[in-house]
Amino acid sequence: MTAPSAPIPETPEHRAALARSIRAATSLDEATLERLLRAFYAAAREDALLAPAFAHVSDWEAHIARICAFWSSVALMTGRYHGQPMAAHLPLGLGAEHFARWLDLFEQTARGICTPEGTEHLMARARRIAQSMEIGIEVSRGVLPGTRPARPDAPVSPA
Ligand code: HEM
Repeated sequence: MTAPSAPIPETPEHRAALARSIRAATSLDEATLERLLRAFYAAAREDALLAPAFAHVSDWEAHIARICAFWSSVALMTGRYHGQPMAAHLPLGLGAEHFARWLDLFEQTARGICTPEGTEHLMARARRIAQSMEIGIEVSRGVLPGTRPARPDAPVSPA
């Protein structure tokens, strides 16, 4: 069974019912997400391409807590995350190769920990979010036709 894909929940009751059906369909819960995310970031910190972007992270427990809240909101519809993921990524110099590697590693890790339905549920969301981050980063660099850098001091890619 695949997880229901959502009309926007209009009431707390509707949201709770949708969250219950997602959990039933995917077997995802907060504990599984935390196990996945700890395993994923342990692997990402060892990955030659991704590791440099994480070098400045000094408080890993705080990062894991934020990421758990993010995925709880995204995958279980709990509304626990309040943040701006885009802003955290703009200064990191990420490109298509980073996002491809991130998605590969995330999928590989999810397959080892989640049910197939859980992995599919997470990957559909991860791919969408990664794509919108990648586009946001490109636009902020002014590399898409007809765009300008978002800030006057933003790096502009070579012509
Ligand atoms: C392309 C490879 C990626 C790299 C190298 C990367 C790296 C990072 C780094 C270094 C931080 C800041 C950590 C800190 O200072 O504590 C961060 C934050 C975060 N990342 Fe990524 N990231 C990547 C892709 C993604 C993707 C695809 C997602 C979501 C699907 C994501 C979700 C987040 C979230 C939610 C935060 C926390 C933002 C906040 O402070 O509220 N990242 N990431």
